[in-house]
Amino acid sequence: MDRKTWAQKTLNVSAVFWFVVTFIGQLIFVVYVFKTFYLSAAQGQWNVWNTQLTHGYVPGMMGSNLASVTHMLLAALIILSGCVQLIPQIRNAFPKFHRWNGRVYLMVAMMMSASGLYLMWTTGTVGDWTLKVGLSLSGLLILVFGFQAYKYARAKKFLIHKRWAIRLFLVVSTVWFFRIGMMLWFFINQGPAGMDPATFTGPFVTFLAFAQWIIPLLLAELYFKAQSSLSGSFKAFVAALLCIVTLLMVIGIAMATIGMWFPS
Ligand code: HEM
Repeated sequence: MDRKTWAQKTLNVSAVFWFVVTFIGQLIFVVYVFKTFYLSAAQGQWNVWNTQLTHGYVPGMMGSNLASVTHMLLAALIILSGCVQLIPQIRNAFPKFHRWNGRVYLMVAMMMSASGLYLMWTTGTVGDWTLKVGLSLSGLLILVFGFQAYKYARAKKFLIHKRWAIRLFLVVSTVWFFRIGMMLWFFINQGPAGMDPATFTGPFVTFLAFAQWIIPLLLAELYFKAQSSLSGSFKAFVAALLCIVTLLMVIGIAMATIGMWFPS
């Protein structure tokens, strides 16, 4: 095997490694959402929502409750639907399913974005304006990328569609990246550094408010460039970078699982 073929294979394997880790990490988040929001809602225990959210369920606050219920109950659906869309074997074997799941994903993404923006700017949440602006931008990007992914699917330009769909998946995963990024930071610093955990403000929170979607999107652009590059060394460099980031994500996922989603 020549150097370039080897580098291309390594790049493909690193992308699969990234996806498998992301898939497992998102499944753990889905189980947390089921346990915390779906189960308690089914049992009528809305007080459980208030232990996790700033305004989970507040009697009398119609708009806020509607946004909160929409947001939490669709969260697991969009995560599962997104992960399934990216599996090529499913895409190739069941194209009809891919098209319908794609439409559901786009609709749910718009509802998640609208309800999230409502909760953030009307009901109020933790953190200062920098966190709100950072997360709101990702909410707006969901709408832009969703439109682009749909447009290129309709035009049957599948390579361009695939790239917009990956960008969409990354911005939809912002909330998940935020949590694993924060827990990785806590692990490195052995506790919250650069932030006040009581108010959820500080330079680190401001950094993460933007980094949660900028870093994944930049990495994706590098990956796209490497896929079409003729340089074996560039492919190998991006593959190595992707593997390092994925290993850091493994730590973040493990810490979020034991420290945040399923504390003993
Ligand atoms: C589209 C993908 C999204 C998913 C899967 C998602 C998922 C979630 C989940 C699971 C929670 C509960 C958090 C927890 O218990 O740790 C949550 C809370 C929240 N999300 Fe989202 N979300 C998404 C997008 C957004 C967007 C785009 C915004 C705003 C622009 C947003 C704003 C919020 C707010 C304000 C809360 C409540 C936080 C609090 O109470 O302090 N979300 N989201």
